[in-house]
Order: sequence, then C-alpha cells, then structure tokens
Amino acid sequence: MESILTDRPLLRQQIDRVAEVAGYLWQKGWAERNGGNITINITEFVDDTMQALPAITEPCPIGKTLPHLEGCWFYCKGTGRRMRDLARDPMANGAVIRILPGCTNYEIVADAPIAPTSELPSHLAVHDYLLAQGSPYRASLHTHPIELVALSHSRKWLEKDAATRMLWSMIPETKAFCPRGLGIVPYLLPSSVELAEATLRTLDEDYDVVLWEKHGVFAVDTDILNAFDQVDVLNKAAQIYLAARGMGFEPDGMTDAQLRELSDAFGLPK
Ligand code: 13P
Ligand code: ZN
Repeated sequence: MESILTDRPLLRQQIDRVAEVAGYLWQKGWAERNGGNITINITEFVDDTMQALPAITEPCPIGKTLPHLEGCWFYCKGTGRRMRDLARDPMANGAVIRILPGCTNYEIVADAPIAPTSELPSHLAVHDYLLAQGSPYRASLHTHPIELVALSHSRKWLEKDAATRMLWSMIPETKAFCPRGLGIVPYLLPSSVELAEATLRTLDEDYDVVLWEKHGVFAVDTDILNAFDQVDVLNKAAQIYLAARGMGFEPDGMTDAQLRELSDAFGLPK
C-alpha cells in the first residue's frame, strides 16, 4: 500500500519524530501495553494533492465543537495501539485525520482506517485552544511516567504548585527547561470530555505540563520532542526526590535564594 508519506519528506520528518518519541516512552517504562497517546497538528505540511484525497471512513464525532480546528489535519496514535509498535511503524499504529467543516466531526484520510486514541477529546480540545491563543505549539503528549504518577497518589503533592516547587528544587535544569512547572488535574475518568475540559482549564493557568491524578501527564510544546523533554525533565526530578527518600532522608532541595538566582541568570519567570 502506498503511504501518504511517500514523496512528502517534511511530513515524514514529523511522523519520524513521533516514532522516535514513542520508542523513548517504551524504553522508559512509561508506555505499558497501549498506555499513552500522541497527536500532532500537521496542517502546515498538507499540500493540494493531499487536500483532494478522499476519506477512508465515514465522518466520526469529536464529542464537541472546536471552531479553531477548521481545515486542520492531525496525525493521531490509534486507540489500543502500543507505543513500542508505533515506534517501528507509525502509519500502521496511527492515522492521519482531517477535521470536517463545522468542526464537530473528523474523518480518517490515510494510511489505514485506524481509530484515533480514546483521549482524542483532550488532544483536540487542547489543539483548538492553542490555535485560539495564536500559540506555535503543534504537539501534545499523554504518557504514564512512573515517578510523577506515584507523587500524584499523595494529597501533599496535589496542592497547587507544591510538586512544582519541590521538583524545581531537585536539580537546577528542571526550572530552566520546564519553567512553567506542573499543573494539577484532579482524578477524572480517562477519555472523558470532563477530563479534556479540566486539562484545558489547567493549561490555561499557564502550564505546559499537567499531572492527571493517579493516571499520567499531558504535555504540549512546539514539537513532540520538546513535549517529551519537558516530561522527562520533570520525571527526572521526581526520581531524584524518590531516590533520596529511598536512602532514608528528605532531600534539602535548592533554597529559594538559589532558585531566584537561577531565574535571574536564565531569564525565567519568578
Ligand atoms: P489509547 O490506547 O486509546 O490511546 O489510550 C491509552 C491511554 O493512556 C488512555 O488514557
Ligand atoms: Zn492514559
């Protein structure tokens, strides 16, 4: 079967990055079975021939109307598909979809009729929000990073910015490379529209990464590698915290003065 990626090197490069990140997620142990999902907005890589391609499925409902997605195209991981399989063959484990006029339905265009991730409501609601904001962010990632999910089982770390403050203080790079910290979304049913709305509200508090209580994280950035890096940096800080606890002590953490000095040196928000 001819792939939509044939003779489209720029689009292929984007999908290759998704496959690269899917491999990292599996290697990190964050992607058990079909755990996690990725969507990327590929609209800027769609040419006229692609626009004219017929759909390979009937229209499917998004679950809500998302007006800023008019004319948009996405690559989406398939529901039930494994990241470790996607890493090898992204077009056999995900699909290219386009949003239909009216922005309440989508259809699958290529390569195969693979139903998108069950978290599509969260992903598309977030892409709609990013476009409305004029944001350059084009990628969203949901994954199950072990240590961050473990933290979310304690009330203490679900207080607003308590986890952010602790994680930033574990190693200077955390604040430098995840300067907006970690937003908190209280437990909600996976795949639900309520989870999508709570994710959106929390990202709007000016976070790039939010923690879904007892489930995982949802991250956005310019591209999928950058979204992965933000989660990786935060989870590394959580690992350092837990390593210290495992050695039997509460880590001191960097002081407020050290964090302020870092913010001044790197031009970070206070
Ligand atoms: P999907 O296989 O539908 O993408 O679901 C995985 C997941 O992590 C749900 O939260
Ligand atoms: Zn999940």
